[in-house]
Amino acid sequence: MKLCVALDLPDEKDNISLAKSLKGCDVWLKVGLRSFIRDGKNIVSELKNINENFKIFLDLKLYDIPNTMADAAESIASLNVEMFNVHASSGKIAMKAVTDRLSGIKNPPIVLSVTALTSFDNDEFKTVYNENIEKKALQFAKDSFESGVEGVVCSVYESLMIKNHTSDSFITLTPGIRPFGDEQKDDQKRVADIDTAYENKCDFIVVGRPIYQAKNPLDAVQRILAKKLF
Ligand code: C5P
Repeated sequence: MKLCVALDLPDEKDNISLAKSLKGCDVWLKVGLRSFIRDGKNIVSELKNINENFKIFLDLKLYDIPNTMADAAESIASLNVEMFNVHASSGKIAMKAVTDRLSGIKNPPIVLSVTALTSFDNDEFKTVYNENIEKKALQFAKDSFESGVEGVVCSVYESLMIKNHTSDSFITLTPGIRPFGDEQKDDQKRVADIDTAYENKCDFIVVGRPIYQAKNPLDAVQRILAKKLF
């Protein structure tokens, strides 16, 4: 399992200070929409300048027509990030367009797809997708697998089921982690602690607020890594 720290702070300098404080840690960093829109693509090189071994997950959740998604994926591949994501609900043709386009590129980033946002509970999910959340998340995962996508963003509680229906090596990256089980859920509905994520074979856990809102973010990261599940 790997730890991915969400850089969701309100301004660039705070994200950079957080990354600097984690300089010696074996973590991935997640650059999300706010940071990328505000700080631009240079944020990637700034983070790599802090520690060239930091791996970057660009969490932009692409959703558009197939050709536009493939074009965007090709641009992302030139940014020196190790992983990015698309929405599985963009459909198999769009996901295939992305993976086909990347297959012509040397060392392309890993592509994941988002199944169901962890902020959805079943009722809200149904109003959008007209389907039970677990059933649809599994269908999205199968579609992604068949489209050449290398893994999914999903809830901890779907990780095992998705691997069982695709492959053990199909990556699961799970947000909604409250590492020690005693933190606030915030807007996340289906939260889990680290042990539960490990038991469910999650390959990556994404942790945001429990780290960057902690009095000492480095200490929070070290406490997570000390669980030796990484
Ligand atoms: O602060 P917290 O740990 O809840 O942050 C979770 C991070 O994971 C946020 O950056 C959020 O955008 C992201 N995310 C999520 N659910 C998804 C995909 C991404 O919470 N399905």
